[in-house]
Amino acid sequence: MEMEKEISAIVTDAENAVRAVDVKDVETLPHRVDDLKAKYFGKNSEINNIYRLMKDVAPVDRPAFGKLVNDAKRQIEDRILSFQASCDELVLRFRLSAEQIDITLPGRGAVKGALHPLTLTRNLLTDYFISLGFEVTDGPEIETDYYNFEALNTPADHPARDAQDTFYIEGGEGKFLLRSQTSAAQIRVMENKKPPIKMISPGRVYRADEVDATHSPVFHQLEGLVVDKGITMCDLKGILDALAKRLFGESVKTRFRPSFFPFTEPSVEVDASCVKCGGAGCKACRGAGWIEVLGAGMVNRAVLRNCGIDPAVYSGFAFGVGIDRITNLLYGINDMRVLFENDVRFLKQFR
Ligand code: PHE
Repeated sequence: MEMEKEISAIVTDAENAVRAVDVKDVETLPHRVDDLKAKYFGKNSEINNIYRLMKDVAPVDRPAFGKLVNDAKRQIEDRILSFQASCDELVLRFRLSAEQIDITLPGRGAVKGALHPLTLTRNLLTDYFISLGFEVTDGPEIETDYYNFEALNTPADHPARDAQDTFYIEGGEGKFLLRSQTSAAQIRVMENKKPPIKMISPGRVYRADEVDATHSPVFHQLEGLVVDKGITMCDLKGILDALAKRLFGESVKTRFRPSFFPFTEPSVEVDASCVKCGGAGCKACRGAGWIEVLGAGMVNRAVLRNCGIDPAVYSGFAFGVGIDRITNLLYGINDMRVLFENDVRFLKQFR
């Protein structure tokens, strides 16, 4: 009888211990449940120790006593294990809610980039010339004096060199420079290819200019070159007039003004009727009604000869477009510095 009481006291004790567990402190709950298990049905638990009393029990009563202890032990185990299961669930729910992300929050949209306006203009120009069957070639930005000047009929003492304040490379003994014009690419093409030649070459050029609204030490040109039998100034005029219309609209007119470049003869500067006022005269064209857009001319016979092309058989024309200039005209930009500052507030307008 004594023992029965003791056993049922242990069961009650375990039950009370389970009830006493504070489940609100979820962080430490799993450890406290482990402690409970150790205390109430582990190796050294009270209920296990009861078995040792078996020797004091009369042999006839032993099966009944054993059953009593086993039942009590199972009862405690069931109670604690089912408590543990409900605690595990509690802990899981707690962790899930602590790590919760709000999937109903609207996503932050990815900001789309945009092509730089200079790239847009370059693409516009190259697309046009590609549609006319021109090849696109690349030339090095670090050039030799030969390609940038010498072969372009501009020897060392030529006054035309002064117009292009050139960056020479230190230690290059005056031989290496940053190209001041994409015309250097003309020579590289004519050296490697025999006519017919129809090529364009867009890229960066460098001149030692102070930065202001209309100058930058780095800017962009697109060179064009056509060499074949029977090429005349009419071809040049036709192609450039069509280009101006493509860029600025069908109503735009062009005019050729006599000019000078050592590598073309005759040389011209090409004006387009002002995109803003249509030729009447306004602030954008400084009252002239015309805006200069490029330099061009018939390839100088000396240049053809320098590249091993017989000027008695072949003739050609060349032109150099200022990509920055065209960009300013197309987008109404009146300070070219914005093209190089990469201020996102400016750039995102081109999305
Ligand atoms: N290279 C000249 C310049 O930079 C432009 C040009 C190119 C003129 C081709 C004639 C022919 O000013």
